[in-house]
Amino acid sequence: MNPVELIRKKRNGGALAPEEISWLVGAYAKGELPDYQMSAFLMAVCFRGMTADETTAFVDIMLHSGKVIDLSSIPGRKVDKHSTGGVGDKVSLILAPMVAACGVPVPMISGRGLGHTGGTLDKLESIPGFRTDLTIDEYREVIRDIGLVMIGQTAEIAPADRRMYALRDVTATVESIPLIAGSIMSKKLAEGIDALVLDIKSGDGAFMKTYNDAVTLGRTLVGIGTAAGKDTLGMITAMDQPLGAAIGNWCEVEEAMDCLRGKNVVDLMEVTYALGGAMVYFGGKAASIAEGMALCRSAIWSGAAHEKFLQLVERQGGDIAYLNEPGRVPAPRHRIEVRATSSGFVAGCATMKLGVLAVELGAGRRKVDDVIDPTAGIVLAKKVGDHTEKGETLATISTNREDAVRRAAEVCSASITIVPERVALPPRVQALIDRDGVKPWTAPTYY
Ligand code: URA
Repeated sequence: MNPVELIRKKRNGGALAPEEISWLVGAYAKGELPDYQMSAFLMAVCFRGMTADETTAFVDIMLHSGKVIDLSSIPGRKVDKHSTGGVGDKVSLILAPMVAACGVPVPMISGRGLGHTGGTLDKLESIPGFRTDLTIDEYREVIRDIGLVMIGQTAEIAPADRRMYALRDVTATVESIPLIAGSIMSKKLAEGIDALVLDIKSGDGAFMKTYNDAVTLGRTLVGIGTAAGKDTLGMITAMDQPLGAAIGNWCEVEEAMDCLRGKNVVDLMEVTYALGGAMVYFGGKAASIAEGMALCRSAIWSGAAHEKFLQLVERQGGDIAYLNEPGRVPAPRHRIEVRATSSGFVAGCATMKLGVLAVELGAGRRKVDDVIDPTAGIVLAKKVGDHTEKGETLATISTNREDAVRRAAEVCSASITIVPERVALPPRVQALIDRDGVKPWTAPTYY
């Protein structure tokens, strides 16, 4: 096949046949199609989209670019969660050990930072020694032994996504429903799960900026999961301000550790408990999502979730001394306090701008071969709804990049809006999507 003709066809709004998509994706996964041609194709898809048939073929080909793991010999219903991407989204670091501590096996294949959003793999790899590139045999052993495993795409599992993901990260080709669907569902359907919970982010810091677009993405993902025979539920959650306080890699691990030790970072834990409740329910350990949420809370308060995370880190080669003594991680060269220029209430946060700033500080990649600085990032001292006095700290910026220092405080300050009057907080979990459609979310009353 001629790749130029296929790119031209998509660029002109045509629909590709399954064998044409298969050839393009297959050639790219094998390293036989260069990055520049795949970039052009991805950009054409961003502008022109894909038909339902093309999307189905794309997901299937992405999935079968590697092995599909069978975990049926491991007891219990295996359940995972995936987020469509957000700023400060460290939910997986808390959720996966919390759900595993409730007795539900969690096999998780995650991604790296993507565009302005962070990635679970980069966060885990900020723990010295942590290996996210296990072989399939190692993956199987870890989930069998401790009920939890967290890895990335490999040469064996979802290899097409491994290459395409890295390319989309640096070519502004993330915001496309079929590309997101192929990327997420190829990883999730390869893992050996029985059920899947999707965190579909909506708002300025998400790839879907509006609620309606998030619903469209959610319906697509839930439809694919359901058609593949997996119990699949989506939750639309707010991404109009960073989740929790930390944006970066090591600082997000630290915040996740605080939550695992029992700190209630309210917005972060509200989303984590809702998703966790659904996973525990799907795992057959609770009769409802509400009951699953209660079990998740107990796993945090008993210390079982924290214990499970340490077990995972040790098992995958990470040095838990860094988690127990955070001072071991070297401080970045620059630490800048951003202070409020007026008194009032924080009314909004330009979340995507903060995500882009974190990338510029060194927490993400601008080119495929950029090396992440684990200590780069932003920690917010004030969130939407909080009161501040003029001169109080709004955020602390950390970086080792001389070139980023000058503009960073200005960009961060301009991203946070302060108004004189109190502001109402929007709901954090906005709706559920299952095979029957979109439903309102009502948080359990004890919440
Ligand atoms: N997460 C993924 O794994 N892929 C995407 O394309 C977006 C979010």
